[in-house]
Amino acid sequence: MKEQLQVLEQEALTKVEIAQSLQELQDVRVAYLGKKGPITEVLRGMGKLSPEERPIIGELANKVRGNISEAIDSKKATIEAAQLEKQLENEQIDVTLPGRPVNVGGPHLLTKIVEEIEDLFIGLGFEVREGPEVETDYYNFEALNLPKGHPARDMQDSFYITEDLLLRTHTSPVQARTMNGMEKKQPVKMICPGKVFRRDTDDATHSHQFTQIEGLYVDKNVRMSDLKGVLDRFAKHMFGEDREIRLRPSFFPFTEPSVEMDISCKVCHGEGCNVCKRTGWIEILGAGMVHPRVLEMAGFDPKVYSGFAFGMGPERIAMLKYGVDDIRHFYTNDVRFLKQYHQA
Ligand code: DAH
Repeated sequence: MKEQLQVLEQEALTKVEIAQSLQELQDVRVAYLGKKGPITEVLRGMGKLSPEERPIIGELANKVRGNISEAIDSKKATIEAAQLEKQLENEQIDVTLPGRPVNVGGPHLLTKIVEEIEDLFIGLGFEVREGPEVETDYYNFEALNLPKGHPARDMQDSFYITEDLLLRTHTSPVQARTMNGMEKKQPVKMICPGKVFRRDTDDATHSHQFTQIEGLYVDKNVRMSDLKGVLDRFAKHMFGEDREIRLRPSFFPFTEPSVEMDISCKVCHGEGCNVCKRTGWIEILGAGMVHPRVLEMAGFDPKVYSGFAFGMGPERIAMLKYGVDDIRHFYTNDVRFLKQYHQA
């Protein structure tokens, strides 16, 4: 029995020695020291021993047990220490590494341009207004002297929703809405920035959705020279005192006379390039004296009141100001493009 115990002790100690994990150690503990283990088994047979042998074997068995248990505990401590070491190594933080850069956003270039234009016009005494993007045929066309069947409706290919509803093709309906909505007719001085939509094929200078800013000034004795002065101030404010403008006679059903204002191309300085379609000039806006019919339909007496109106595209202004060569950059939202203007 003595030898049996010694063999068991050796066996157990060897297994403890080669154990690699806490689980393996636990298995050894259960196998050798557990209730169903061989040592317990040996002790159970003690009844058959002589009274002299019993205490000797009993003591030996306890010693073997103690040795195995001690070996397991010490191996357990070794394994745990190694695990902790490994964990610490894995979780090591290099506090000297540079921090990750924080991506700071900024307003979209178009937002900035619109705000810049708003600031100028607010300074000139204009109010900023808004209107619906889904507009009625009446306000988008009819109230602007474009009755059904008028050939000039074809100037603006439209996205119709129903026969009477469409995505507004310009911000001009807000002129009519503003004047119509006034109970008591009095001078109006407003601008309206917003999104507009046209059934156009996208290319470097066209987009099916873009922004416009409409302007309207109605009062007694408003003249073409007032329009010219305001537009000139606007051009110089946005592009610098040295920018040139030119007015060309044009046609819009809602103004008479009508003009288009061009500004010399910033990209090529008049040489001719992609942006200006090789003319050296870029059309920025349409304008004119509010047509008497438009005033009349909105309840203003054209014999008492006159006014001017204009409509411009902030994209074109941004393109010109910053040399952006493709209108699609504003809408594809590549951050590499956008972030160039965060400081602008
Ligand atoms: N609504 C015109 C367009 O989208 C732009 C325009 C031209 C607006 C002349 C006006 C104006 O108010 O007087 O092409």
